[in-house]
Amino acid sequence: MELELNETQALIRDSARKFAREVVAPRARQTDREERFPADVYKQMGELGFLGVNVPAELGGAEAGVVAYTLVVNEISQACAATAVGMAVTNMCAELICAYGTEAQKKKFVPRLTSGEAIAGAFALSEPHTGSDASALKTTAVRQGNQWVLNGAKQWISSGAYAGVMVVWARTANTGSKGLSCFIVEQGTPGLIVGKPEDKMGLRGSNTVPLTFENCAIPAENLLAKEGEGFKLAMIALDGGRIGISAQAVGVARAAIEASCSYVKDRKAFGKPIGEFQALRFMLADMQVQVEAATLLSLRAAYLKETKQPFTREASMAKLYASEMANRVCDKAVQLHGGYGYIDEFPVERYLRDARVQTIYEGTSEIQRLVIAREILKSAAA
Ligand code: CAA
Repeated sequence: MELELNETQALIRDSARKFAREVVAPRARQTDREERFPADVYKQMGELGFLGVNVPAELGGAEAGVVAYTLVVNEISQACAATAVGMAVTNMCAELICAYGTEAQKKKFVPRLTSGEAIAGAFALSEPHTGSDASALKTTAVRQGNQWVLNGAKQWISSGAYAGVMVVWARTANTGSKGLSCFIVEQGTPGLIVGKPEDKMGLRGSNTVPLTFENCAIPAENLLAKEGEGFKLAMIALDGGRIGISAQAVGVARAAIEASCSYVKDRKAFGKPIGEFQALRFMLADMQVQVEAATLLSLRAAYLKETKQPFTREASMAKLYASEMANRVCDKAVQLHGGYGYIDEFPVERYLRDARVQTIYEGTSEIQRLVIAREILKSAAA
């Protein structure tokens, strides 16, 4: 396996790094404090190709591949994880429509996502009583003439108040996971009601809302893939999405290490910089080893997806390890900062709050373990 980046990957990584440092990082603290969704930043990310990194150029994407996608997510997350999550979900929606949409759906919706015209994409699967058990969702879609009529409630929808294009799962038959279908819904469709944003512990600059569908009628041609194929689409999209979250976790953890290095060089105790004490050096060393391990897991899953090999197990392993690692590393970063780690003058308290959700969304750590174990046992039986 090649461990060097190719020219395209290095170029897009550098472009994301520059954008993250110059545009995203300077406003990250304010984005968090004021819970301000950075819609204008999404437009700029669209212009740079970051909203469709693994999407064909003819549909407005960067066509740079999955490894490049993880590199972009790393860089943006290092500056602002809240901005990165909406970017990642937009990529996920654009890729899903590219992979399963009709030509008309691709032409109509994908360029709107990749360009930033739609601001963001949203992935509406979870419901108030259905998170991990995704196939138990209750929202219904009933065919009436040349329309589908949606009724039900969705919960925890990232960018839901801003996303111009959403992919929404609903039940079209009472046959468990085989009775689910996937639809494309545009913001502003009558009957789609956006609820009050959640007041979250972290990722406060990302927008998380409940959605209600009340006789929300959408054109029949907005069914994505075939009726009854929705659950598989969700699982396939989440496999890819989990690589994105692993990359986000790596980005946040890297930011925590960078902040910690700068702090321990500067802060003095007992007559010398605290970075000269072995106890703190050992902490830093352990943090770095874990970030590197997570990076490799994340890149390996991305490489497998990019080269069209099975990657379900590797995506879950990367997401599981990286998200738990980010929580450990950010916690240590707060510890290294002492009291200053606990106040918002330094960024590490934000990193810790932002990392917390990573073991929950796009499948909890427990769901990742379930997926990994199933995959191991499947290949052991073969
Ligand atoms: N790829 C393709 N097909 C898959 C698949 C995959 N990775 N995983 C399962 N399937 C297929 C199975 O093969 C099976 O097909 P058949 O019936 O034809 O054999 C079908 O889907 C049902 O599979 P399971 O029996 O495994 O389904 P299950 O009910 O046991 O659930 C689960 C599996 C892994 C627990 C799944 O429900 C799951 O991933 N839950 C977590 C949901 C989740 O991650 N939600 C996150 C919300 S989105 C979000 O957070 C985004 C955001 O805004 C940040």
